[in-house]
Amino acid sequence: MNIIFMGPPGAGKGTQAEKIVVKYDLPHISTGDMFRAAIKEETALGLEAKKYMDSGQLVPDEVTIGIVEERLAKEDCNDGFLLDGFPRTVAQAEALDSIMANLNKKIDYVINIDVDPAILLERLTGRRICKSCGATYHMVFNPPTQEGVCDKCGGELYQRSDDNAETVGNRLEAYFNQTAPLIAYYTEVGNLFNINGQQEIDAVFAEIDNVFGGK
Ligand code: AP5
Ligand code: MG
Repeated sequence: MNIIFMGPPGAGKGTQAEKIVVKYDLPHISTGDMFRAAIKEETALGLEAKKYMDSGQLVPDEVTIGIVEERLAKEDCNDGFLLDGFPRTVAQAEALDSIMANLNKKIDYVINIDVDPAILLERLTGRRICKSCGATYHMVFNPPTQEGVCDKCGGELYQRSDDNAETVGNRLEAYFNQTAPLIAYYTEVGNLFNINGQQEIDAVFAEIDNVFGGK
């Protein structure tokens, strides 16, 4: 299965992707995670991406498309993959179409996680992530057993630098102006599935999994 997860910042893409990739044994390809890893390693890509991420803007298409094209050509994508947070512009979606055509593949499911924008700020400012394994928590909605410590690996939890009110505002604006048009794009293609992201985490998972029909 070749899957895309779409939705505004804080919709639950990463939370659900973590579960789906385990169940279906797929590589989890998150462009946000790839940029954060590059920033940590202080590579040229990281330095470039940081300029945009710190202010909540999208990283330019040519940079983003290049890293995804390289990633999708890797062998572990042969039996499927889950793209989390890509594409995010119509230009990226068009580039993905030609990457897929070159690889003789197609996108089977575009999962659009729908959440009322009014609750996204609370989700994002309360988010905590494990420094070691990347697991996602929420201080209120999905707290770890011990404050500041990852349940899965015992790692230290941290807050993303773009999870503050000002940057979240810019990220939402970027989403509505540049990414939301992809809903129409994939509705036209006919592979878009809308999911109610405003339920308990396990209920959202069940709704997504139902789309795949246990395949
Ligand atoms: P990225 O890392 O992709 O961030 P995002 O799209 O803003 O999405 P988030 O990761 O913030 O949210 P999520 O939907 O994964 O939510 P989560 O599951 O964590 O991108 C970061 C930046 O990188 C971008 O701003 C841009 O600069 C750049 N970038 C990345 N991709 C790019 C691209 N393609 N093109 C250009 N630039 C790109 O959940 C959020 C919180 O809510 C958590 O605390 C979680 O525990 C909680 N939660 C989840 N589900 C529920 C639920 N059902 N009920 C209650 N709480 C819940
Ligand atoms: Mg995410």
